[in-house]
Amino acid sequence: MTHALPWRPLALAAALLLPVGASAQETDPETGLIQAEGWEVVKANCTVCHSARLVTQNSGSRNHWEYLIRWMQETQGLWQFRPEMEATILDYLAEHYGPKEGARRPPLPRHLMPDNPYATGEGPG
Ligand code: HEC
Repeated sequence: MTHALPWRPLALAAALLLPVGASAQETDPETGLIQAEGWEVVKANCTVCHSARLVTQNSGSRNHWEYLIRWMQETQGLWQFRPEMEATILDYLAEHYGPKEGARRPPLPRHLMPDNPYATGEGPG
């Protein structure tokens, strides 16, 4: 056997690279916030009055987060943000704590479903 095995280094490289690419996003060990653009603004402004867990365990659309911020501003003494800072916060929250995958609509009730085309006509009804 004089031929080298050219696929070997490639396979090795793939094996080394894959776990990095597949790993979850880095989170801040202190707060658990996903470390992506804007996270430091969120950490600085959203962990003052309560734990960051309140933030990380919540999820929803940009509207949901905006509603929460307005609610805290009106009733809980949360300060006003400069528009561009608020946009950074909302972008971050909507992107990384957006609507949950599992939050699908519930199944349709039976009476809203189409008739079963395979029904035999036998039995009740
Ligand atoms: C000035 C104080 C203050 C700051 C700053 C603050 N919050 Fe709050 N937040 C509160 C209070 C008070 C509550 C109610 C806590 C409770 O119910 O125990 C709350 C509740 C929440 C909740 C839970 C809402 C729910 O439905 O139960 C979330 C999510 C939240 N805040 C997110 C944020 C985010 C995001 C920021 C940064 C933009 C932030 N908070 C900054 C005071 C604050």
